Amino acid sequence: MSITLNTDNLKSFIDDQELQSLAPAVKAAHDHLHNKTSKGSEFLGWVDLPTSISESYLNDLNTLAKEVQANSDCLISIGIGGSYLGIRSTIEFLGGASRLPVYYAGHNISSDYLHNLLETIKNKRVTVVVISKSGTTTEPAIAFRVIKKALEARYSAEELKKRIICVTDEKKGALRKIADKLGYKSFVIPDDIGGRFSVFTPVGLVPLALAGVDIKSLIEGARKGQAEYAVCDLEKNASYRYAALRYLLYKKGKKIEVVASFYPEVYYVAEWLKQILGESEGKDGHGIFPASLIYSTDLHSMGQLMQDGERNIFETFVMIDKPNHDVEIPSDTDNIDGFNYVAGKGLDFINKKAYEATASAHLEGGVPNMVLNLCKADAFHIGQFYYFFEKATGLYGYLLGVNPFDQPGVEAYKTKMFTLLGKK
Ligand code: PA5
Repeated sequence: MSITLNTDNLKSFIDDQELQSLAPAVKAAHDHLHNKTSKGSEFLGWVDLPTSISESYLNDLNTLAKEVQANSDCLISIGIGGSYLGIRSTIEFLGGASRLPVYYAGHNISSDYLHNLLETIKNKRVTVVVISKSGTTTEPAIAFRVIKKALEARYSAEELKKRIICVTDEKKGALRKIADKLGYKSFVIPDDIGGRFSVFTPVGLVPLALAGVDIKSLIEGARKGQAEYAVCDLEKNASYRYAALRYLLYKKGKKIEVVASFYPEVYYVAEWLKQILGESEGKDGHGIFPASLIYSTDLHSMGQLMQDGERNIFETFVMIDKPNHDVEIPSDTDNIDGFNYVAGKGLDFINKKAYEATASAHLEGGVPNMVLNLCKADAFHIGQFYYFFEKATGLYGYLLGVNPFDQPGVEAYKTKMFTLLGKK
């Protein structure tokens, strides 16, 4: 049960001494994270969160989940950014087929999307979890207004109290006012944890529990991450080593990080990663551009650029040691396609060879790469993985000298949109 980081394919770009010379800066950044002594320290509640979550709290969520699963055919999770990605990433990583099917809303403003969703749920028994820390974000607020109206046409106000659950600030925001006025069940997002670091708060735990995800294992994995990545030692702490190496790569002109996986279930995990990395470091004119590719699909489209384009890229592979299922390649008497040479092998064996070939070819093509190996695609490992990147993001942001925990740039489009919409 572990996550390992292999950085052999960085050796020709970064030597050990360069990494070691960063140790004092890493120590300073580590101290800032643990002692709350630098920019954004009011948003460090995530650092000790996993071990502060009680078993009775998780039991209560699982009890609520049983009630909801008994009276619903599906769940609608409304939210955007940090109030959306961790939920979807976890569900998709675990295979997409949760006990209670989950639909998403409030993460776009497409009328066709919302129309189709309303059609899909027309004859289904629905529970809604609406998530917004600020309680005022346009996309989820509008989606909630539309979905609530549709549900009011078929459920009584009393029934809706069982079917609408709000996750928001304790006191502030319109969503808090709605929950209190209409008597909806609500959960509080702590003040000291920002959206992209909130997957282990009720933001992630409530919808994931309702969907049937094993939230106890998720938190157990996060706790393992909390212990393992609290050690201020570049050798022992893979999260810090990753952060320090990507800092050195950035300083050497590698301005784009491609998170690449040979497992399509990592697609939304990479979306979560893009938010936590991009929103944390992309400020004051700094920041690696985080991109993602799913191989081998994208080797047949973006493979050319990866192999032979501008050499401003490094690659971080996310691999899974033991997939939940393997598929044996059958032997064929006629062998017209000529593939009997792999007959009897598991598909995952071929997938792993494709990875080895790609990592080696890209290295030869001038793309430094590293690989994070997750033992299994289960709740425990994705929990540890999230914590790995929370810690790496915080540490990297402090190495870079930015505040990793604010997002002032996100406001710019909103201000212009509100003016265009005539908001008073
Ligand atoms: O990371 C962030 O803070 C943002 O991406 C938010 O998660 C996103 O804008 C949603 O905000 P809220 O939860 O307040 O609706």
